[in-house]
Amino acid sequence: QGNPTPYELIGEGQLHKLIDVFYSNVSQHPDLQPIFPDDLTETVRKQKQFMTQYLGGPSLYTEEHGHPMLRARHIPFEITPERAKAWLSCMYQAMDEVGLEGEIREFFYHRLYLTAQHMINTSGMDG
Ligand code: HEM
Repeated sequence: QGNPTPYELIGEGQLHKLIDVFYSNVSQHPDLQPIFPDDLTETVRKQKQFMTQYLGGPSLYTEEHGHPMLRARHIPFEITPERAKAWLSCMYQAMDEVGLEGEIREFFYHRLYLTAQHMINTSGMDG
């Protein structure tokens, strides 16, 4: 029994709530809403699986869907720098709404920031 994982520090309940609130924000964001499905049920379910393993919990996403290959899975969508910013702002707001604070928030948000930059696949200025 070593140090708790970030997943354990946040806890399943708070992580799930965060993701629910996050997608509710996404569905209301004018830059994001057009590229997401109207029904986010499945998106929410997959993201709960993914974030669980991303934070050091059980490999729920990989067990059901295989290797995440996140950047490849985002290629069908135009991820501009503006959309990365919008995605992160929805997450920041969700963290506020569920009261995720302190070092664990800093750690998690920073990792999401880096991953979001990696997902950018177009400048949005090439037509
Ligand atoms: C799926 C957009 C960043 C993790 C998706 C989908 C869209 C999207 C449109 C498809 C939703 C669906 O059809 O259900 C974006 C945008 C981002 C971003 C605009 C801005 C940078 C991220 C980041 C992560 C992430 C930072 C993880 C840390 C995922 C996962 C899926 C997904 C796990 C589900 C993949 C699957 O279909 O199995 N994203 N995303 N995304 N995204 Fe993102």
